[in-house]
Amino acid sequence: MDFKNIPEERKIQFARLMGGMSRTVQQFLFALFAVGLIVSMDYLVPAKSTFLEVEEAIPDVPWDFKIFEDVDADRPATNELVSYGRRLIMETADYIGPKSSKPFAGNNLDCNSCHLDGGTKPFAAPFVTVPSQFPQFRGRENKEGTLYERINGCMQRSMNGRPLPEDSQELEAMVAYMEWLSFDKPRGNKVRGNKFLPIEYPDRQVDLKRGEEVYAMHCASCHGSDGQGERNIESYTYLYPPLWGPDSYNHGAGMHRVLTAAQFIKGNMPLGTTADEPLLSDEEAYDVAGYINSFTRPLKLNPENDFPDKKLKPLSTPYGPWADSFSQEQHKYGPYGEMAAYYQAKYNLKKTK
Ligand code: HEC
Ligand code: HEC
Repeated sequence: MDFKNIPEERKIQFARLMGGMSRTVQQFLFALFAVGLIVSMDYLVPAKSTFLEVEEAIPDVPWDFKIFEDVDADRPATNELVSYGRRLIMETADYIGPKSSKPFAGNNLDCNSCHLDGGTKPFAAPFVTVPSQFPQFRGRENKEGTLYERINGCMQRSMNGRPLPEDSQELEAMVAYMEWLSFDKPRGNKVRGNKFLPIEYPDRQVDLKRGEEVYAMHCASCHGSDGQGERNIESYTYLYPPLWGPDSYNHGAGMHRVLTAAQFIKGNMPLGTTADEPLLSDEEAYDVAGYINSFTRPLKLNPENDFPDKKLKPLSTPYGPWADSFSQEQHKYGPYGEMAAYYQAKYNLKKTK
């Protein structure tokens, strides 16, 4: 899908719409909007302190993710920064990948490899409304973090690289793009599908044998039986990204957690799958998530510093230390039922991944 950025046009359309209405209608709409905002804020937005990774707050606010459909591909982009942001997200490897002129990422994945459709696909951790949710409490660092820091979290883990400088045009551009995606959406609200599709994981260990079968049947055709994917021609980017090995996300990445990967896979893979009509069962997603994460991949430096408050560590974080005495094997492959029960009983924490 070709992208040309049109925030100006969209704003003008909106202004025209409003201009065509009488003052009373405008005021009425505004009041309605304000009331709606207050009501939805009350019900939908958890207090800032509860924005924990372990929480699933997915209020049912519908949003139109097909916002690029009416974009005129022949019109030049009107906002260079937004357009650069979009390209950075779609073709990350060409701009900041290890072989590019600004080698900040350590692998050749694109942000779009996981934040599908340029960060507009529901249940693929979309970027829509994300800017207004920051600063946000992050368990991994145990402090309020900015959106720049969050992006750099993915840079150092999912992209196995270095943080982009705080004053870089790249960070500015990515955030401009995320803002652009969000500008007509309710601010501060989480939207439906804002993370991944929650699954009911089976209360047993991952079955790697079954995972391998699911992989062979539903994944290998694109990602390869060796999991190394396939490159695009004349680009550093991938047509099908690798799922393990040296050019994949590192072991500190969210996708390396079986429960997080299972949620992503269930709602999005094989490519084309939507959360409304998943192809895999929860069990299949769970087993294949364990399977792809059973292979070697780059190691994140100093992983022991993650989650200074260890009890906030997601259950399937496969590296210690933890605030419990379950084995490393059990953290990596489950079963997670008794672990979840432990955190519920001991710390009153409801962990879903
Ligand atoms: C290997 C997969 C992967 C890649 C590649 C990746 N991310 Fe992420 N990203 C994730 C996961 C997993 C999460 C956590 C989602 C959750 O909280 O459930 C995440 C979360 C985020 C968030 C927070 C979203 C929110 O809803 O709070 C931002 C912002 C983000 N990523 C930006 C980026 C950017 C920018 C890039 C490219 C430089 C990138 N990511 C590359 C997997 C990835
Ligand atoms: C039809 C091709 C296709 C199939 C089949 C497919 N994928 Fe993917 N997968 C992709 C593409 C393409 C992306 C990156 C998104 C993009 O470029 O739009 C991706 C991204 C991913 C990612 C995140 C990026 C990364 O490199 O880690 C994971 C994990 C993943 N797929 C797992 C699976 C699993 C597990 C299966 C089988 C259940 C599967 N895929 C089946 C094409 C496919």
